[in-house]
Amino acid sequence: MSQDSIAAGAYAGQAASSGASRGLWTSRWAFFLAATGSAVGLGNIWKFPYITGVHGGGAFVLVYLGCILAIGIPLLMAEVMIGRAGRKNPSDAVAALAEQSGASPRWRLAGWVGGLTGFLILSFYVVVAGWALAYVPAAASGGFVGLNGESSGALFGALLADPLKLAVCASLVLLATLLIVGFGVQQGLERAVRYLMPGLFVLLLILVGYAATRGAFGQAAAFLFAADFSKLTGEAILVALGHAFFTLSLGCGAMMAYGSYLPAGTSIALTSLLVALADTAVALLAGLAIFPLVFANGLEPGAGPGLIFVTLPIAFGQMPLGQVVGVFFFVMLLIAALTSAISLSEPTIAWLTERFRISRLKAVLLSGAALWLLSLGSVFSFNLWAEGTLFGKTFFDCLDYLTTNLLMPLGGLATVFFTGWVLKRKRVSEALNIGHPALFQAWWWLIRFVTPLGIVLVFLNLIGVI
Ligand code: TRP
Repeated sequence: MSQDSIAAGAYAGQAASSGASRGLWTSRWAFFLAATGSAVGLGNIWKFPYITGVHGGGAFVLVYLGCILAIGIPLLMAEVMIGRAGRKNPSDAVAALAEQSGASPRWRLAGWVGGLTGFLILSFYVVVAGWALAYVPAAASGGFVGLNGESSGALFGALLADPLKLAVCASLVLLATLLIVGFGVQQGLERAVRYLMPGLFVLLLILVGYAATRGAFGQAAAFLFAADFSKLTGEAILVALGHAFFTLSLGCGAMMAYGSYLPAGTSIALTSLLVALADTAVALLAGLAIFPLVFANGLEPGAGPGLIFVTLPIAFGQMPLGQVVGVFFFVMLLIAALTSAISLSEPTIAWLTERFRISRLKAVLLSGAALWLLSLGSVFSFNLWAEGTLFGKTFFDCLDYLTTNLLMPLGGLATVFFTGWVLKRKRVSEALNIGHPALFQAWWWLIRFVTPLGIVLVFLNLIGVI
């Protein structure tokens, strides 16, 4: 046995023993559900259908799939690999791996920025999830019946103008998130996704079934899948790239945290591929649930942010069984947001418990208090503080811009650079354990050259340079 493989065995042993005490997923299936729960969120149900329509339907979908394959999956694999090899919260996992490769432990900053990004995203993600929560009783009580474009806009406007209602809804979502996370990896996260993810999938299938029978399904399918390459611009390619990154929850330490609970011996490559497939399938199905209703009711498919909260309620108000279908839709959205929210908080909770050796309960209470105050800032951005802007952006818009456009790409770039250029190839190959040397070589090439280039391009586009 070579010295290297003895050393690798020592790493593995150390990882396994420290991993056991901090919790592990009970199976690969549990990790798959949790990671898919993280990936499937507002990005799939609201953003993907809409950007697909705007950027040329099928042609855009093809480019997006290419980005998922060339950029998304390699980076997802890198994040899960770092988590599992380090068996710690993102910042300590990065530091541990850096030291094993003879690099500075200051690389921990990369993991730390990721955790911070997730924390900040969570503070406004719960506010948006709160809108979905507020729309469940509205749908159930027949509040959408007879809505037209104007009155639907007014209904949404009235919700945004009500700080108390927004704060209560956001706080309830935050409370549910913290409650789940507080129970730990197996009793909390794993138990929640075991029920929530199949529930989400069933609701989605019911909605697609409804859209197929009651809606303009053919028109919607043509809108989503007919490849019109003339509409495919450079901008569209960058949007596809950026979305591939966002939809797989990359650059926030979330997948590192989840990877740190992954049992040894599970194939990271295969599981990552399955997560990306499930995420893409949900996005496509969401399009097939939403657009048939939009077209059948003569509504505008490219409505953007209003598509789900303004356009869709009009359709629910006009269609047979609209009350039930509306409730199903917003419950599904809520589940999608909740399973993303728990993964946004996990890096911070893991960091607090491991770094400061405090109990999980204390970590949840501490971060919960900070998150709650921050979320109130986002709530007030829509009403009390709507006039208080920085560079023309409200508090909510600032947080969104800072995280999605700056911190996430930076976190992702730091992660790929760290993986491809700082860590030793041998160590990475052991940790990833792909099995086929040619496959590893392909991944290594993607992570060293293609992924960083892709992220830099998205970043420059997001901040308006190209
Ligand atoms: N992937 C989520 C979505 O599509 C959003 C998201 C981005 C996210 N980064 C994240 C979720 C990090 C959890 C963790 O809506």
